[in-house]
Amino acid sequence: MTDSMFDLISEQDGERSYFDTGGRGRSHAFYTGEEQYRLEMEKIYGKRWLPVDHVSRFKEKGQYATLNIGTSSILLINGDNGIQAFHNYCRHRGYKLVEEAQGKRQSVVCIYHCWVYDRNGALKSLNGTYLDHFFDKEKNGLLKIRTEVRYGMVFVCFAGDDAPDLDETLGEFGKFAEVYDLDKLECVQSKDYPVASNWKLVAHNVNESLHFPTAHKDLHKITDFDDAGTYTLEGDIVGAWQQIREKFNSVSMTGLSNREPMPNIPPGDLKKINWISIMPNLLFGFTADYVMAQWVWPESPGTCTVRHFWLFHPNETAKPDFSHEAVFALWDKANYEDWELCERTHRGLSNPMWVPGQLSFDEEVVAQIDGWVAKHTCDAAESGTEK
Ligand code: FES
Ligand SMILES: [Fe+2]
Repeated sequence: MTDSMFDLISEQDGERSYFDTGGRGRSHAFYTGEEQYRLEMEKIYGKRWLPVDHVSRFKEKGQYATLNIGTSSILLINGDNGIQAFHNYCRHRGYKLVEEAQGKRQSVVCIYHCWVYDRNGALKSLNGTYLDHFFDKEKNGLLKIRTEVRYGMVFVCFAGDDAPDLDETLGEFGKFAEVYDLDKLECVQSKDYPVASNWKLVAHNVNESLHFPTAHKDLHKITDFDDAGTYTLEGDIVGAWQQIREKFNSVSMTGLSNREPMPNIPPGDLKKINWISIMPNLLFGFTADYVMAQWVWPESPGTCTVRHFWLFHPNETAKPDFSHEAVFALWDKANYEDWELCERTHRGLSNPMWVPGQLSFDEEVVAQIDGWVAKHTCDAAESGTEK
């Protein structure tokens, strides 16, 4: 009998070195610097598997989504061989092909000089004089990016054959994804938020609840930041759990919902949020009646975009009285509260005379994120030993 997620994941580590000293923030250059940002784009976003979308947004042929990652942009489209990611630029002279965040189209027309690609990325027709001796249409299709699907999430990797092992990267993520039926859920709402802060400050913010009492009165009313803890998990993932207060059953503006809990949630998790992050930039909030996914995508050292999805079980979305309004209202408001905090923190950390501060026991995931980023971007001396 499974009482809670603790029965499904590996044994928890009682001897956490973090509890000897807590953690410490990092330098002005680490949080706001151009060189650190360049290393992150090269060594993390350029080399790792990146979860980028959910399969429920690509049910029909031709459904597509775009995503900007740093100065790159990708186009995900459901073609004849399933969902495939391409570089979102025209092979002729580089025009950025699609600006809309999502939609449906069976061909992609570059409106600069009218080259036309089909939903599989193949160049179909073109404008201008090209003779066969110097032009091969087959070699001028959209450039593919390696794409995989796991647990209903679409992953891409810019490193092609040098990509790391995706299943090893995900570690125990699947234990949560399976219990919460992630591959079956429907993305009912998505929203993008521009934020004028370094992406790591947003990743920190969405991964700690220490600020709930000061920043989010609606969220704090429903969730108990004192009744919470950090998981020890295998893979490039980190996580924490947090209890929902006694008189509520859903993390929403009302705190109450008549949605059925998802079918496989263990009893001990019915009133919990399981916060699980795939490093370094995607946070899932797994709750009994919905799952939220929140990415932070870097754009420059001082700007990023947060993309937020709300996913519900198809048993519930099929009901005529289904509504996600109270859930969306809570998070949309909390999001704006958070972005103000992140932007102002970025302004504080922009001072080169910033001296790193002490982190509490409640901020272990903040230290883990910084440690993970440092491990992949800095030399050993600077990176510390945190996961
Ligand atoms: S840049 Fe696309 S057709 Fe010329
Ligand atoms: Fe927040």
